[in-house]
Amino acid sequence: MIQKGLEGVKICKSSICYLDGINGRLFYRGIPVEELAEKSTFEETAYLLWYGKLPTKNELEKFKKKMAEYRDLSDEAVNILYHLPRNLHYIDVLKIFLSIHGSTDGVDEDLKEKAIKIASVFPTILAYYYRYSKGEEPIKPRKDLSHVENFYYMMFGEMNGKVRLLESAFILLMEQDINASTFAALVIASTLSDLYSCIVGALGALKGPLHGGASEKVPPMLEEIGSEDRVEEFVQKCLKEKRKIMGFGHRVYRTYDPRAVYLKKVLQRHFQDSRLFKIASKLEDYIVSNRIKNIYPNVDLYSSILFEEFGFPRNMFTALFATARVVGWTAHVIEYVSDNKLIRPTSEYVGPLNIEYIPIERRDENG
Ligand code: CMC
Repeated sequence: MIQKGLEGVKICKSSICYLDGINGRLFYRGIPVEELAEKSTFEETAYLLWYGKLPTKNELEKFKKKMAEYRDLSDEAVNILYHLPRNLHYIDVLKIFLSIHGSTDGVDEDLKEKAIKIASVFPTILAYYYRYSKGEEPIKPRKDLSHVENFYYMMFGEMNGKVRLLESAFILLMEQDINASTFAALVIASTLSDLYSCIVGALGALKGPLHGGASEKVPPMLEEIGSEDRVEEFVQKCLKEKRKIMGFGHRVYRTYDPRAVYLKKVLQRHFQDSRLFKIASKLEDYIVSNRIKNIYPNVDLYSSILFEEFGFPRNMFTALFATARVVGWTAHVIEYVSDNKLIRPTSEYVGPLNIEYIPIERRDENG
């Protein structure tokens, strides 16, 4: 039997995340994700996903210190940064630096330690490249700030009173069961390749517009719509042209994506004047109330507007997603390899057999 797109296929047992697509619920290690977005921090939720339990006060303090220690980029890496073209996509920048890191990192180190190292350095890579691409000096990471505060600070050189909202978005994006990029990481992990290669593969999968890349397509789409009164016309045009509406639909959620619900409330409360938000809300109302293709908004619809409001460049949105999801990717890799099985599906061959090999001089150019 062929299961196109592996829809509904379970490839392993996991205790990391439960996604209830029918009721629109999401849990990390059993805890509802909304509760974590509201009450937890990036570091604490990452600890929960990696270690399987919430940390004690002492454990969290030690863990935060460790993440802060791993923030810096080596001089060698910074030197490479200065030799890169200034117009790369941020996902590609991450891939470059991870490949360098991976080739120089110890092979025997504990996987969890490597995972913490990788997640800790993502913001530094992005912020350094952002400033370099604008011809500005990079801002060195600060150890006294939290993971997300420090990221914002390294990007923009100042603090932001609303950074907690960004942290909530990162928590919501941190994990999502065996989605396409996590699966890509697991395929690589299952060959017993190194963790860095798993993450490079996952980044490539996330970049696609049907997955995390949708976040970069949402703002231009909302701008194309232009105003709330043009929503209906836009949707009907998309349906006619069989064009996907970005930020809508999901393989597993058959109702509202709880992450989108949460982020919409955040935007309603804090960024209600955003033009893009007003158009996105109207788009949601129209699509849901008219049961268009039975799709609902997904996380990318509203996370992209939040990232826009914080001033991040659009071609960094997928990399922002990755900055959070790297925790989920690595948690799954660690879990999967503890009971490893090479991932190697098959196809149903539908081509011919026993075809004669025709020597090149006898091959017909027109046939
Ligand atoms: N706009 C218009 N039609 C849609 C959409 C959409 N966003 N999503 C699904 N459909 C239609 C689809 O064309 C198909 O129609 P038909 O049966 O007439 O051919 C039907 O709904 C079933 O959709 P599908 O594409 O077979 O479903 P899937 O599970 O393979 O796709 C998806 C899931 C996320 C790829 C798809 O909904 C999509 O392309 N969405 C737009 C891109 C997007 O926002 N991606 C982010 C996903 S969530 C966060 C993340 O993973 O990054």
